[in-house]
Amino acid sequence: MAGSNDDKVFASMVFNNDFPKWKRNRKFVTKILMSKKYHLGFINSVQKIFKESEKQWDDSDVTTLDFSKWVAWYKAEITISTVIGQPLLYDSESYDSIAKAAADYLAMFAFLVFLPKFIGTLFMLFGYDTVKKRSVFLNGTMRSIIKKRRDEIKNGSPANFNLLDLLIVTNSSQDSEEYIEGEEPMDDQEIESNLAESTAASIETISTSLCFLVYNVAKNPSVLEKMRAEILKVLGSDTNSTITYEDIESCRYIDAVVKETLRHSNPAPYNLRVLDDYEKVGNHNWTPGTWFWPDHHKVMNHTDYWKEPSKFDPDRFISEELGGTGEINKVCKNGYIPFGGGLRLCPGRNIALIELKLLVILLYRKYDVDLASKNGQIKYSYRSTNQVHELMVKISQK
Ligand code: HEM
Repeated sequence: MAGSNDDKVFASMVFNNDFPKWKRNRKFVTKILMSKKYHLGFINSVQKIFKESEKQWDDSDVTTLDFSKWVAWYKAEITISTVIGQPLLYDSESYDSIAKAAADYLAMFAFLVFLPKFIGTLFMLFGYDTVKKRSVFLNGTMRSIIKKRRDEIKNGSPANFNLLDLLIVTNSSQDSEEYIEGEEPMDDQEIESNLAESTAASIETISTSLCFLVYNVAKNPSVLEKMRAEILKVLGSDTNSTITYEDIESCRYIDAVVKETLRHSNPAPYNLRVLDDYEKVGNHNWTPGTWFWPDHHKVMNHTDYWKEPSKFDPDRFISEELGGTGEINKVCKNGYIPFGGGLRLCPGRNIALIELKLLVILLYRKYDVDLASKNGQIKYSYRSTNQVHELMVKISQK
């Protein structure tokens, strides 16, 4: 992606066009997000938080709720725990506001990118302070947490497997376990901006994906049946056992359900690219500086590339030998792009798939999740990502 490099807003990766700076941020964040030990710590945190939050469902026979609100709150809690590694001393209302701030943050960038420069400047003069006050990433809260954590680690506190601690220790000395050749360690401002970006990039995308998955599964009972059969086979009948990395890897059908959700109802339907050289595409000659808005959703829902694209069919992602249609193996290059592509391919893609699969197992192994009314709809709008604002469901123990 590309966009504003305004000093007053963060631009570590998503909206950063300064190649050397982008590359440095990318190396640090990718190293951590792709590492197995980060994945293992993440899997632990997700389960711990789920156990706490499911108590409210266990206390009553049927809970009716707006799943989009629950998931935004829950995902904010997971994100804070895996990105910052410590509760932000807030109650559930504050988690709602973190989710809201993340949504605003993404929308703010889109706003700055798409609108004419003079309107962006007016916004920075008059509107930015409002967003700033609401966001822990912009109002100074995060800066003081980073400083405190840096001092604690310097004084012997061990680094935990969260993004903040790992960004602090990476390259902090030649023999640090996390080391990237030729880079200075990150300073507080760089860390702050990367934490903000990973938080914003993950809260909205994961929350939206899970809402669409729940909606699509509710509309396709045969998919639910297959998911349940797989969960029973891989995890047995104990609905409270600890789920391991290997369990998640073994759930091939759930992997297909998640991938089909990201094809059918992608949370990031559009992307941005800007040309840095002359380019001829088809009969058009494009000049440097031209903006492109690749339509991921259309590519992944086009009849030229996909059979009956509007049908929600996870079997596309299962090979023929295993009983699926194996369609994914026949789709053209770049026909499946939920995480973008090329140099800018989403660095959170592996952790996103792990998280979504884990949440699906946690949810469906113990609970029935139905739409609150037979013809219930999912309500969403596009603000840089698709953001769901209503999905009424009934949750009860199986
Ligand atoms: C289902 C979940 C997710 C989806 C669908 C998604 C999708 C995307 C897409 C389409 C891009 C643009 C890629 C391009 O320009 O080609 C992107 C970039 C990015 N994503 Fe994700 N993402 C998800 C989850 C996450 C998570 C969990 C994180 C972090 C923990 C994350 C961090 C980022 C970052 C930092 C970038 C900017 C990369 C760059 O410009 O170099 N994403 N993502």
